[in-house]
Amino acid sequence: VNYNVVDIKNFLNNIQNIIATKLSEILKTNPAPCARLQQALEYTALSDGKRLRPALMYALADTTVKHQNLLQNAACAVELVHTYSIIHDDLPAMDDDDFRRGKPSCHIEFDEATAILVGDSLQSLAFYLLSLSYHECDNNNNNINVLQKQIKIINILSEAIGALGMVAGQSLELSQQNNEYHNAVNLEALNQIHKLKTGKLFTACLQIAAIIANLNSEQYDITTCLGYKLGLAFQIQDDILDCLQNSEVLGKPTHSDLKRNLPTYANIINSEEAHDILNNLWTESYQLIEQLKLPSTTLKNLVQYIQNRTY
Ligand code: IPE
Ligand code: IPE
Ligand code: MG
Ligand code: MG
Repeated sequence: VNYNVVDIKNFLNNIQNIIATKLSEILKTNPAPCARLQQALEYTALSDGKRLRPALMYALADTTVKHQNLLQNAACAVELVHTYSIIHDDLPAMDDDDFRRGKPSCHIEFDEATAILVGDSLQSLAFYLLSLSYHECDNNNNNINVLQKQIKIINILSEAIGALGMVAGQSLELSQQNNEYHNAVNLEALNQIHKLKTGKLFTACLQIAAIIANLNSEQYDITTCLGYKLGLAFQIQDDILDCLQNSEVLGKPTHSDLKRNLPTYANIINSEEAHDILNNLWTESYQLIEQLKLPSTTLKNLVQYIQNRTY
């Protein structure tokens, strides 16, 4: 990554290329001994995701010259976990959505069993990547330094995405499905679901990047707060886009939440209120980014880009 890149679209393109190249290399050099599984892995992992989570990691850590391979593998790991989560999220037992990233969902292009197994494989692959050893360490104690970081990263990610995190959010959301009393669902309960299902992974991204970039503990705590704000804002946007955007632009079906009669920011409060809450979250996010005192404005620019997203 060129650290002087100010144009955030170039920056994002760069990240998308880095992730695509690396994921393609990993998948193609060690193909699964089952052609159908391999095909489905490539179909999903190499599809056109926005790669915003890796971009957030690079935007936060891009001042470190050291440990670029660790950053690259960690960014790919996060993207693999995210991809697994949406493959399972689209399954008939969950959101039952036929379209994803502009193409038929994995269970439509292949079949349900394959989609389940692809999700399982991508999750394992993420942790495999995080556990790879590094030979590029320069002098004496750097090896130990990297190992400690790797263990910490595995600890953060595994905690964030399981039954204490993302999966808990998905599970809580399912229990709200077809709830006829949306108006009785309070915002606090909805926030908790959003923070778990989306905020936990956003937070993990930033925490992992903070570890790699050797940010201090005060900065680390700020990134934790920032991750939750961004995750919540991102999910509120997702809910609003689900109602207002068209499916060609989104690359996935619209009115998916409505179809499942799910409480969201777009239906339990009025849209003016939702926009106020969203705007406050962006404002608070920029304040937290200021407090990080980063040497570049990449993270701020990227968050502005996300704030203005239309898909
Ligand atoms: C979709 O995430 C799932 C949510 C948590 C809202 P993205 O909007 O980042 O999906 P891709 O990776 O670009 O397809
Ligand atoms: C997806 O949430 C969250 C996870 C996969 C963990 P949504 O179900 O709201 O996301 P989309 O709208 O299908 O992308
Ligand atoms: Mg869902
Ligand atoms: Mg969904």
